Amino acid sequence: MFSLKNGIVVSLNRPCRLGELNVLDGRIVPRNTMNGGRKVSLDLRGRSYIYPALINSHDHLQGNYLPAVGPKRGNFYLTWQPWDGDLKASPTFVERSRLSREELYRLSGYKNLFSGVATVIDHFPHEINREFLPLLPVRAVAEYTLSHEAAPNDLKWGAGIGVEHRRALKKNWPFVTHLAEGFDDICMGAVERLEKHKALDDHCLLVHCIALSDRDIRKIAGAGASVCWCPASNMRMFNVSAKVRKMLKAGINLSLGTDSSATGSVNLLEELRYARNLYRRLYGEELPARTLFKMVTLNAARALRIAGRTGVLDPGKLADLMLIKARRDDPFENLLEARPQDIELVVVAGRAIYGEERFLALAEASCGRVVVGSRTMFVAGDPGALYREVRRKLGFNKVLEYLPFEPEGKGRP
Ligand SMILES: [Fe+2]
Repeated sequence: MFSLKNGIVVSLNRPCRLGELNVLDGRIVPRNTMNGGRKVSLDLRGRSYIYPALINSHDHLQGNYLPAVGPKRGNFYLTWQPWDGDLKASPTFVERSRLSREELYRLSGYKNLFSGVATVIDHFPHEINREFLPLLPVRAVAEYTLSHEAAPNDLKWGAGIGVEHRRALKKNWPFVTHLAEGFDDICMGAVERLEKHKALDDHCLLVHCIALSDRDIRKIAGAGASVCWCPASNMRMFNVSAKVRKMLKAGINLSLGTDSSATGSVNLLEELRYARNLYRRLYGEELPARTLFKMVTLNAARALRIAGRTGVLDPGKLADLMLIKARRDDPFENLLEARPQDIELVVVAGRAIYGEERFLALAEASCGRVVVGSRTMFVAGDPGALYREVRRKLGFNKVLEYLPFEPEGKGRP
């Protein structure tokens, strides 16, 4: 059990308050439950925001490799298929193929952890990721059903739209699928296809949705389905974004995901900034930082049907925490400016898995060390050894921008 005192606790609905956050058996608890027993108490001196740790609601954990792959200059794709062909013919893919699947999953775990993500969902079938998800330092959601693109010409993941959706209903899991990622007739008919399969409802997490008509948007809102916006990926591949202003006005539960770094941002903090800048460019108005924060916390938790457990810092919820240095009076603006070098601590279900050495009392004895910026950080597992092994296999000093450290111990600015 531990207490963080004099931290600024961030809530969507209450003004920030200087207070204490108590953790017992992996959960946030009221102060009076902490009597008795040996507890660690740390004073944040009013200098840190305590946020709910972030939730990345769309990633492909086998695909986080760099550099990204996109269309040739000046051309954009009509559908996702030519991108898939370009990826598989790319030097990035050839190089990536020299790493094991386990190494790619472990790298992806750190990509997410170093940007304050405690929970991520991998858009790959269970038979591919089952053995790797438990190896990650962060929580990877294992309870979902899926289609690849919910289209007759997709990659045939899962047992088909109707079967997978019915399984989701039965188990109360999300049914996750790319949808309308392109502009041919198949992509444009995506919502009607879900309706035909009786698979459009509040269990759906629909990713990309760049080709939706206004009528489709009304149907999705009426069904209570969630949409995951991946702006950097959509712009790289198609130079088009989902109609997020209309979606927000329609009341759709909108989350934000990175997609893999093969098309999206290098991490979720960068994706937040990309989303804000793109919205300003597309609509000439601001998307409030608070709205973006909600997309990577509560909205994402709702989309993944885990809002009863995480997404906000309320008593009874899992202690999924992220501490960031308080530089701005507004905690949401503070998050929008944050870089991996500003993250002070990440806790997943009460386990401190990444943090500054002043939080070492919360860490497990087996954790490793990395230097991020000018700080030595403890971290679950040994990402330094992983990075060194990746470089050894490749035969040169590969830089993966989502790893904010040098494996030999020299920090990157
Ligand atoms: Fe994707």
